[in-house]
Amino acid sequence: MIANLEVCDTPETVAHRAADIIEATTRAKPDASLLIATGNTPMLTYAELARRDLDMSRVCAVQLDDYLGIDDEDPRSLYGWLQRSFVEPLGVTRVLRFDPLAPDPQLACEQYAQAVRKLGGIDLAVLGLGPNGHLGFNEPPSNASAPTRSVTLSEASLRSNASYWRGKDVPKSALTAGMDVILAARVRLLLVTGAHKRDILRRVLSEPVTPEVPASYLREGSLTVVADREAAC
Ligand code: PGA
Repeated sequence: MIANLEVCDTPETVAHRAADIIEATTRAKPDASLLIATGNTPMLTYAELARRDLDMSRVCAVQLDDYLGIDDEDPRSLYGWLQRSFVEPLGVTRVLRFDPLAPDPQLACEQYAQAVRKLGGIDLAVLGLGPNGHLGFNEPPSNASAPTRSVTLSEASLRSNASYWRGKDVPKSALTAGMDVILAARVRLLLVTGAHKRDILRRVLSEPVTPEVPASYLREGSLTVVADREAAC
């Protein structure tokens, strides 16, 4: 299966195109389940969606990942980031989230996976690309059947996440939607911007599919990549 790669001039035009795809999905299915990444890449897309006249009140926002042991009030909470960037501005009322304080993280992951199944799976996954090829916090090596689970973050992820909270320690472990959940999404949308993602995007699209680049598994199903010129050329 060849990925559909759409190259846009700028991160802003990536955001417009990605917002078009999300808008089309939610107009066709107002109660769609959307797997929603945080991170820097999709922020312009969510801001663009918030400018549109959309009723997102019935969609279910499914959290992609979160840090373990970080409460919602902590500025590093990815749930807090999801709330501020997506849930509140878009008037979303249904959220399926991780419990980052669960005494038994494994059980929390099983409950999350079961809740995703009860939703009927994911209609649209909105994904960013880790500099090391991770999806969510499915760190290399992760294969296509890696389940929802708690993980120890790689050095590469610790380094790149450090830029989100200047001066604060980056948590070292996390909960992530499994590769199985991500890859089963009916529509998979990968957003990639910036020259620093050029090499990893090339590996995702052109090198053999490998657990060392978890995002490369996206190519085994239908995939739309929306990238800016800096990342794609
Ligand atoms: P970024 O993060 O959007 O901030 O580049 C992507 C990721 O690490 O998954």
